[in-house]
Amino acid sequence: MTDAPRTFDLGALAYGGDYNPDQWSEDVWAEDVALMREAGVNIVSLPVFSWPQLEIASGVYDWGWLDRVIDLLWDAGIHVDLATATATPPAWLLRAHPEMMPMDAEGRRMEFGSRQTYCPSSPVWHEHVARMTRAMAERYGRHPAVALWHVSNEYGDHTSRCYCPESARHFRRWLAERYGSIDGLNEAWGVNVWGQRYGDWDQIETPRRAPGPINPTQLLDFERFSSDALLGLFRLEVEILRELTPDIPLTTNFMSMFHDLDYWRFAELEDLVTDDAYPDPADPLAPVGAALNYGLMRSLKQRPWLLLEQSASAVSWRDVNVPKAPGKMRTDSLQAIAHGSEGAMFFQWRQARYGQEKFHSSMLGHRGRSSRTFAETKALGAELAALEPVRGSRVRARVAMVFDWDSRWGSAAAESMPSQRLNWAGQARAWHRAMHALGQPVDAVRATGPFDDYDVVLVPNLYIADAVQAQALIAFAAAGGRVVIGPFSGVVDATEKVHLGGAPGPLRDLLGVEVDEQWPLADGETGVLDLDGAALTFAHWGEWIEVDAAACVLARYASGDLNGRPAVTSRPAGAGSAWYVSAMLDDAGLVAVWRLVLAEAGLPARDRTDVNLDAVTRSSADTDYTFVLNHGREPLTIAVPEGARDLLGHDVGRTTNATLTLPRFGAAVLATPRAETVPFITLADGRTD
Ligand code: GLA
Repeated sequence: MTDAPRTFDLGALAYGGDYNPDQWSEDVWAEDVALMREAGVNIVSLPVFSWPQLEIASGVYDWGWLDRVIDLLWDAGIHVDLATATATPPAWLLRAHPEMMPMDAEGRRMEFGSRQTYCPSSPVWHEHVARMTRAMAERYGRHPAVALWHVSNEYGDHTSRCYCPESARHFRRWLAERYGSIDGLNEAWGVNVWGQRYGDWDQIETPRRAPGPINPTQLLDFERFSSDALLGLFRLEVEILRELTPDIPLTTNFMSMFHDLDYWRFAELEDLVTDDAYPDPADPLAPVGAALNYGLMRSLKQRPWLLLEQSASAVSWRDVNVPKAPGKMRTDSLQAIAHGSEGAMFFQWRQARYGQEKFHSSMLGHRGRSSRTFAETKALGAELAALEPVRGSRVRARVAMVFDWDSRWGSAAAESMPSQRLNWAGQARAWHRAMHALGQPVDAVRATGPFDDYDVVLVPNLYIADAVQAQALIAFAAAGGRVVIGPFSGVVDATEKVHLGGAPGPLRDLLGVEVDEQWPLADGETGVLDLDGAALTFAHWGEWIEVDAAACVLARYASGDLNGRPAVTSRPAGAGSAWYVSAMLDDAGLVAVWRLVLAEAGLPARDRTDVNLDAVTRSSADTDYTFVLNHGREPLTIAVPEGARDLLGHDVGRTTNATLTLPRFGAAVLATPRAETVPFITLADGRTD
């Protein structure tokens, strides 16, 4: 399982989407294939939810229609991302085994009528998944159209936590393996609080609804267990596909920064990381969040990845589904490619006529080839050909952010915290937003590294910290790196026992900081820090910290009960330094601190920031391809790197001081000879933010 990843390679950037031919009569298929060719589609994902159409009753198969569809596609040169069809169980299976339907925290069974109606721990489900996967691999594993296995679909979507008796049995086995004995579990869970001692494994339940706040370590372990339960289901299919089709790469589609699954561990089993990304067109900051998602995707295997699903325009699952304005589908697609995606794919090819997703936009809208989305689909397909040279190139980020699912779960799962306003995901997004505004792309990295490729490592929150993680961060700073740690870090160990002596626990010596008390602010209240005469605003969270003599106090609290106390510190550490930010600063405050960090690390920062400006460079052995995107509706003028040529065809001149004005949703892909440091894109002089 740890063998080298198989390469996914269509000989072109991947372009296509989910295809659901079983929702249409066969005469439509021929039109589909003709229009796919017209649009430059070279791969489609199918048959994701078709198990009931493939095995109509137990052991009664109907492969004919899928055989014909795959042949039809392949005759037109269109590859297939072949789903194992195990994303949703057929009714006949659920009715024969109602015990495999998932149960919620209130003890209610989920009914048939949607999708993913299964308990991840159900042995019956495992048995049938294995059978179906084997059947799919045996039937299609040698078909030349199959370029990629699509295992299940979006694990954890709809059903990521199950509280049924079978899950409880599995949870107990998982706990027994983790803690060895019931005494070990009692010690780990700190059961003397509120009288929660267990005498036997059978007394343990999933954390269903209880009269009051539930034991936080029980909650945390249930998060870990639930991620592992779905990982086990994934592994089951992976092992079968490895055995039967060892040369075909495989993936399962992720859901960007999904909370419920530890994607580091899922990615270990994959050949190719794929993502389904649905930035909300109604949110002007959505592309900034997308940049962080994509930073995670390219980092999970430190290889190019693939955007497997996005929407051509509106989705149908928000309360209000705002369409993408003309041009936005293009910039959204180019953004993913800029951040390392080897193509742009969609949910879905043809807009459904019925069912839950009939109002979800598609590459081919309800008006068919006259639809606006089809016109944009065709235009994008043609443009992707011009971007061929970027395939295989990689983003060279100098800044990384620690993604740690344990801290994410720990900081969010429990009810009894100093404040519910601070959690890992909120911190990560805010810290990234400020770095994005300054023009630095951000990779993701585990808390234990490897950090070798980076100058700056951001740790927005590491609520759960241990000595191994601390050692890795200490070694990074010792070798010359800048590590920046955020509030409420190093608070507890892996069983959620507080590190005595004060947070940040194992990071105290590195930072020269001891937290005496967490100091949340009431809702609606804000506070001020003084950074060298500049007032920085914070809300929700501050800390009473004590610092040692080697720590330099960069900013002090300048309001409220913490007035005059240290707030932001930096301390020399080997050839580098370790910084601590104890408050939840607003974006401008974070930008001010990041300017200092970047300056010390010798990295550039934009003087004037604009959230709509996105610039990321992918580098091949000899060329830097700098994608410059305007996500906004107002034009932006940028300074063009010397000697650049635009793969998208703008005349950018070859002179020094050349500028380029990108209209609303405008884009350029500037090619320059590979340099030691990638081009740094700024707004051109003479313009205001
Ligand atoms: C997810 C699923 C798709 C589809 C889209 C709609 O990504 O994988 O099957 O439902 O959502 O946005």
